[in-house]
Amino acid sequence: MTNPSDHVLIFDTTLRDGEQSPGATMTHEEKLEIAEMLDDMGVDIIEAGFPVASEGDFAAVSEIAARSKNSVICGLARAALGDIDRAAEALRQAKRARIHTFISTSPLHMKYKLQMEPEAVLEAIEQSVSHARGYTDDVQWSPEDGTRTEHDFLCRAVETAIKAGATTINIPDTVGYTVPNESADLIAMLLERVPGADTITFATHCHNDLGMATANALAAVAAGARQIECTINGLGERAGNAALEEVVMAMRVRHDVLPYDTGIDATKIIGISRKVSQATGFPVQYNKAIVGKNAFAHESGIHQDGMLKHAGTYEIMRPEDIGLSQTNLVMGKHSGRAALKSKLRELGYDLADNQLRDVFVRFKELADRKKEVFDEDLIALMSDGTDTANDRIRVRFLRVICGTEAPQSADLTLTIDGEDHQVTATGDGPVDATFNAIKALFAHKARLQLYQVHAVTEGTDAQATVSVRLEEDGKIVTGQSADTDTVVASAKAYVNALNNLLVRREKGRP
Ligand code: KIV
Ligand code: ZN
Repeated sequence: MTNPSDHVLIFDTTLRDGEQSPGATMTHEEKLEIAEMLDDMGVDIIEAGFPVASEGDFAAVSEIAARSKNSVICGLARAALGDIDRAAEALRQAKRARIHTFISTSPLHMKYKLQMEPEAVLEAIEQSVSHARGYTDDVQWSPEDGTRTEHDFLCRAVETAIKAGATTINIPDTVGYTVPNESADLIAMLLERVPGADTITFATHCHNDLGMATANALAAVAAGARQIECTINGLGERAGNAALEEVVMAMRVRHDVLPYDTGIDATKIIGISRKVSQATGFPVQYNKAIVGKNAFAHESGIHQDGMLKHAGTYEIMRPEDIGLSQTNLVMGKHSGRAALKSKLRELGYDLADNQLRDVFVRFKELADRKKEVFDEDLIALMSDGTDTANDRIRVRFLRVICGTEAPQSADLTLTIDGEDHQVTATGDGPVDATFNAIKALFAHKARLQLYQVHAVTEGTDAQATVSVRLEEDGKIVTGQSADTDTVVASAKAYVNALNNLLVRREKGRP
């Protein structure tokens, strides 16, 4: 066993692997806020970005490093000296810094992606890890596509990395291909065969392409890995990574068979889940384990009856364990600022006074239109990514004409970089007319990939949350907004996606 204790380190890569997920762009400020929340909830290592990838990544890693409190801050680097230098520079101000360097080791990746012979790959491992050790004594090395690497070669590669000074060896299931017993056997095999394996920490990094990321990560831990790489809401490339909330709660709820501890304050889970969803514009699937809207909902009569008699009949953990309040007290237009603050805290949002001022104004506007404001309404309000101080484009005025007589039309005023622009456009329905008006006022060639509407609560005065996904030259961005008027929410969600696209263009990476 690598680490004799039963403590499992939590390595969060929401800001790196998570942000690589198509459309999951976050702004600099959002990354700082999320990093602070990760630090506060007890994440051991935060992978803050890939500094060489863009100026934006570099700036985010640098500032997160400078503000870090307890977490180790990690930057990713390929096996290239320039990448490692850039990561080290970004991490300079971290209290504790880790460089994570990687190279592919599977036959497929070495032949087609790297076009390198295995011996050259071993040389690159030796060089990159020792170069990283010149900057910090906390160096992590990963064999990309590790689970599809031949065992003999994987042992040689891991041994080379350990000899060169790696202190953590992470085994990625890059394409989400492995299954739990194989994931466990791989760690056990490395522990048994690689000289020096008992001196380092093994980590597991599982993708969810076959829906087994959490199971594979936990199986690796049972075999001796003592670091899990994961993301909030399971965000990440393609089908995502193992979800932090799932691995942490699995080890807590099933401590009888998974007797491992983490330093995570689980009551902070729901707050950060909502923050990540809002920042990325990725709604959390309703039936998502732990953090989905329905994760603690009991609909059927039989279940409700059981719950009333004893919560343990159908509940293996309590909502408050992950920071969810059990009450759904209705707020209204007479509710004051203090009540809103306390309600939001119950829902997992801890707001500074200036943030609360802003939200209170929006809450009052909503309460004026809607008699009763439910928890779901407040969550939608907090997830609304629009009208932030950094937005270059804002919806100032919208009036649509719709009904049985075509053409439907939209009269729209957008404020673009501080100046108002007005147009009237027609379309096939009010939403189409509105989107045509946006295109007329702010020319762009992004294509609409997804348009999705959800009613937040029941009733005809319910708010609608709208998600929009746009694609431009391979860059995918999403936008989200909520309003009691579906067409207004649609316009704001589209504009939110455009603002995210502008951030993405500035960052200059696909
Ligand atoms: O999935 C993967 O292989 C990765 C590596 C960079 C660790 O994210
Ligand atoms: Zn990954």
